[in-house]
Amino acid sequence: MKSRILALMQESEGYLSGKKLEYHDSLESTNVRAKILAEEGAPEGMLVVADAQTAGRGRRGRSWASPAGKNLYFSLLLRPNFVPDKAPMLTLLMALSVQEAIEEVCGCATEIKWPNDIVLNGKKVTGILTEMNVQSDYIDNVVIGVGVNVKAQEFAPELIDKAASLEAEIKKSISRALLLQKIIKHFEKNYASFLKQLDLSPFMERYNACLVNLGREVQVLEPAGTYCGIAEGINEKGELLVRMPDGQIKEIYAGEVSVRGVYGYV
Ligand code: BTN
Repeated sequence: MKSRILALMQESEGYLSGKKLEYHDSLESTNVRAKILAEEGAPEGMLVVADAQTAGRGRRGRSWASPAGKNLYFSLLLRPNFVPDKAPMLTLLMALSVQEAIEEVCGCATEIKWPNDIVLNGKKVTGILTEMNVQSDYIDNVVIGVGVNVKAQEFAPELIDKAASLEAEIKKSISRALLLQKIIKHFEKNYASFLKQLDLSPFMERYNACLVNLGREVQVLEPAGTYCGIAEGINEKGELLVRMPDGQIKEIYAGEVSVRGVYGYV
């Protein structure tokens, strides 16, 4: 994978791609490495890619299984010049970019489970972990880590009903290097557009069109308690709009909140 990744990223001419890439056969976590590089002064667009991770990190302190030779694990470093409140929108932007890249490379339409899981045939094929380093009231850096399940593999028993890999679902061989190149290409284009108005208004329609939760009953798990409602799509801030049984609309901010389907993962 290394030589193909290096070659493809060199060919790419974008602002984020092709310039600053670190590839490792094995790494604790690409997010951890990208954060170290950020502290050492690495520039925006730095990309860390690994074939395997020994301590891949998931959301909410979970681990992310990262066997060698199967999947895509990478982290992109950004140094955005906006207030920390806006950073969660980058996660949705990356989810949309991954969704678009999978469609381009694999020819299949995936869905997004708010805020950032990519779902194929009702199962998760991609997870995104965004970590931000804030200094008083400005962002020093944001690391967006992406894990895409590409090749057929065995999942842990608790994930069998929830996780899938692209190749196993679409029965077609996929180049991890090409997929990475297309994800970066789509993110680059979307990020440039996002930076013009610093909200998701140009993306809401596309995002909502592939939102697996749309019109479905969801369970919202907040630190203060759990409640159910119908998901009505995102607003321009990337918040999930949930209609409560009394008709009131709650705006759910992608932070400490988890949203699940009432009858299962989606
Ligand atoms: C999730 O729990 O859904 C998020 C999973 C994110 C996994 C990716 S793999 C590359 C990057 N490095 C990590 O340690 N985690 C992210």
